[in-house]
Amino acid sequence: MKLNLKIWRQNGPQDKGEMKTYPIDGVDGDMSFLEMMDMLNNQLVESGESPVAFDHDCREGICGMCSLYINGEAHGPDRGVTTCQLHMRKFNDGDTIYIEPWRAKAFPVIKDLVVDRSSFDRIMNSGGFVSVNTSGNTVDANSIPIPKDDADKAFEAATCIGCGACVASCKNASAMLFVSAKVSQLSLLPQGKVEAKERVLNMVQTMDDEGFGNCTNTGACEVECPKGISLENIARMNREYLKGALTK
Ligand code: SF4
Ligand code: FES
Repeated sequence: MKLNLKIWRQNGPQDKGEMKTYPIDGVDGDMSFLEMMDMLNNQLVESGESPVAFDHDCREGICGMCSLYINGEAHGPDRGVTTCQLHMRKFNDGDTIYIEPWRAKAFPVIKDLVVDRSSFDRIMNSGGFVSVNTSGNTVDANSIPIPKDDADKAFEAATCIGCGACVASCKNASAMLFVSAKVSQLSLLPQGKVEAKERVLNMVQTMDDEGFGNCTNTGACEVECPKGISLENIARMNREYLKGALTK
């Protein structure tokens, strides 16, 4: 395939940035999107140009590092996959492909397609954990019976990989789907109930402080989430928040 790539280039956080055009030839349908980007970068390096900076790590849909906005969709045109799992067979010979970074105030661009998602880390630090007694009399987690439905829902919430596609696809740049997945994962289980109240209040406060927008139930996050995290988690988080705020 011959493709015409329009890629966002930005030299640093203060640079204005612009779309640049890069024609590329010899793209195979079996290549992943990131392999196509590697091929482009090899060509750029060979011709003395600076390669396009983009995030990636596992390249198998589990780490949440890859983060491209492709033709106006977070993680591109396929459903239920991350950018690293997207294949070039989803495109046609002669296509023009627009490639941009996540755009949100709380995710400032570092360079080209790489954004700073440490705001997610700060949200996690403010409550996304359980405190465990490790003094020697720790109760084995498996000795606590958990209803199957709760275990399944907690597991589904735990599949969130923290990629930020929900924020990027939301017109309000809201992080509610991400935060609600993390709140749900813990609050559905007995181990997470002890700190449930402080957790939800602190995580929502940090989310607001970091500059994420509010949820207006548009649902774009759920559509673009590569892990199928459900809006049901946002409803659960709102209930938890109300309960926490009223009994504080
Ligand atoms: S909820 Fe989905 S889109 Fe949002 S960070 Fe988690 S996996 Fe990514
Ligand atoms: S590189 Fe790890 S999820 Fe894509």
